[in-house]
Order: sequence, then structure tokens, then C-alpha cells
Amino acid sequence: MTRFVFHITATDGPARTGAITMRRGTIRTPAFMPVGTAATVKALRASEVAAAGADIILGNTYHLMLRPSAERIARLGGLHNFMGWHGPILTDSGGYQVMSLSALTKRSEEGVSFASHLDGTRHMMSPERSMEIQRLLGSDIVMAFDELVALPAPREAVEAAMHRSMRWARRSRDAFDAGGEHAEAAALFGIQQGGLDERLRAESASHLQEIGFDGYAIGGLAVGEGQEAMFGCLDHAPGQLPEAAPRYLMGVGKPDDIVGAVQRGVDMFDCVLPTRSGRNGQAFTRSGPLNLRNARHNEDQAPLDAECGCPSCRTGVSRAYLHHLVKSGEMLGAILMTEHNIWFYQELMANLRAAIAAGTLTSFAASFLGRYKNRDA
Ligand code: GUN
Ligand code: ZN
Repeated sequence: MTRFVFHITATDGPARTGAITMRRGTIRTPAFMPVGTAATVKALRASEVAAAGADIILGNTYHLMLRPSAERIARLGGLHNFMGWHGPILTDSGGYQVMSLSALTKRSEEGVSFASHLDGTRHMMSPERSMEIQRLLGSDIVMAFDELVALPAPREAVEAAMHRSMRWARRSRDAFDAGGEHAEAAALFGIQQGGLDERLRAESASHLQEIGFDGYAIGGLAVGEGQEAMFGCLDHAPGQLPEAAPRYLMGVGKPDDIVGAVQRGVDMFDCVLPTRSGRNGQAFTRSGPLNLRNARHNEDQAPLDAECGCPSCRTGVSRAYLHHLVKSGEMLGAILMTEHNIWFYQELMANLRAAIAAGTLTSFAASFLGRYKNRDA
């Protein structure tokens, strides 16, 4: 059976469309992966996530190791069985979450020791432990364990973290490969680091290619540098990575970030934005984000987006009703807004794939960005 095959069917400039074939299913690219941190894409059933058009979701090593623990999920038949999502799952390695969520972190060449953000208990994370957890979860796409620095940071700190991440990428590769049956069924992605420095990025890319991975992530971006600086980095980073492997931009992003990154050759994305902002009353539409808490929606009979295929927009659920639900703190508001936002992101990805296949990405991007205004956010 096919473990991992990436097939590009069309290109348009640096942009590519195609599919990744894995045992649990096919991932159409460019792909957006809804974030299911704690074994749930918050507010949605797995079947609703699939109905929105998602082929793959993301899970988090860091959260699941702390609660309910990787060992318990393994005893319960793995993450897919546990949460009822039967398509591919990519798990992040914990490198990023340890730095952003936990306290009292102590880093060494061995790994990171940290205090849980839930109960303060101390844990150790290393490339070997991260690979073990991702294997216990039954992850389909395993991410290498990397080290991040908070930006802005001196070049030496960015360089040192990149070099350590490359040593950890080697250890991740070795520990993953020792995983027996799981290694025969799953894929491993390396993560490029190097901040906004083109030469560090190039060096990181060549280290990763010497080790060899199924796919290559671009890490360390969308950490507050702004879209212009991120696009500046994406003008060279994807081209430093192998053309024949998927490229995954971690933690990105806003709809206009995704359009620009696809135009620069990125194939995969994940971001909490559609789910988190849905719970906060923000809806994405083809005209830009809307804040449903705003009183201007209180008697508006229009759906969130007349072109959206989500169950709410399709059946005429009004902005007025969603305004009421959101203002009242009703859980249905969070559910319907999240579902709409996931549909919006998946429809955007489907439109990007179709535009690349038709060779019309430039005009699609211009018309999408011409309509899409980042103001109500
Ligand atoms: N999520 C967003 N950015 C990153 C990154 O650089 N590394 C990891 N492991 N996860 C991320
Ligand atoms: Zn909708």
C-alpha cells in the first residue's frame, strides 16, 4: 500500500496543485489543515470537518501528552479511533508549543524540560520522546522536534537554534525510523528554521535535504514579523526546498497570507484563526472578516456570505440571528461560526487549486484580494 506519494498535476508560476496519497486518504494540495489541538476541532464533529472539505487535520503532541496522555490514547486505539476522524492526521512535534505555552522551560542539547500549563507538573521533551508520542498517537504525518527563539532575537541566537534544530532533525529521523510498523505507514517532515535570514534558511534547507524527509515545513514564521517580511522570506524559502516534496508553512494564516504563500510555492497550511476567531464572533467572508458582535448586524437578514456553501449560509441563517447568539454567549453561535469559517477556508483552498489547474492563479488572486478587505477584524 502507498505510504506517501506527492503528485503534482499542474503548476502556475511557483504555485503547484496536486495530491498527497497516504493510507488513510488523499490530501488535495494546496491544503488547509483545521487545528484539532486537543483531539477536537473545537465546536465541530469530525464528520462536520470532513463535510466542509478538509482532507487532513492537525493535532498537538504537547497538549495530548499532558491530557489525556499519549499512552492512554494508544490504549484506546490511537488518535483516529479516539476522536472519530479517519482521514490523515498531522501532529506538530511540541517544539513550538513548549516555548509558547509552558513555563519554567530549561533547554539543553538533550531537549526541553518544562512545567505543564495545566498543573505545573514537570515534563521532558526531546526528539526521541516527541517521536514516541507521535507514534503512540498513530500520527500519519509526524513533525520533527525543533527549537524556536522568540523574535526579535540576535542573529547568533537564531543561528544557534537553527543548528540545534538540525541536530534534532537528525535525531528525529533516527527515532522515527526505529518506530517499526508505524514508520512503515507514516511520513516524517523536517522543519526549516533560520528566521528571516536567507542564508540561514538555505543552510537549514540543505541540512534537511541531506537527512531526507517526506515533506519540508517552513517554521519560525508568522511570529509577529508582519506579512511583508513573511512574503519576503517566502520569495526564497520554498525554492530552497525540494520541488518534488510538499512544502508546509506552519501556523499560517489569514486568507490573504495563504493566497500569497500559495503564489510563492507553499502546499500546506494550518492555523487556529478560523476556529478561534469563530468562537470570538469573527466570520470570514469574501469581502473580508466581519465582527458579528457589532450592532450593525442586529437586524441584518443576509447570510454571512451569499456564496458560501456551509449549512448556515445555504439555509439562510441570518447575520441578525448569529449576532444574537454571539452576544448572548450561546454555544450554537460558536458552533455555526466555526463551521462557516472552516467552510470558507476550504472553499478558498478549492478555488486556489482550481485556479492553479486552469493557469489563472494571478487573476484569481487579484480578484480575491480586490474584494477581500482586512478591516473589520
Ligand atoms: N507552528 C508554527 N510555527 C512552528 C515552528 O516553527 N515549529 C513547530 N514545531 N511548530 C510551529
Ligand atoms: Zn457560511
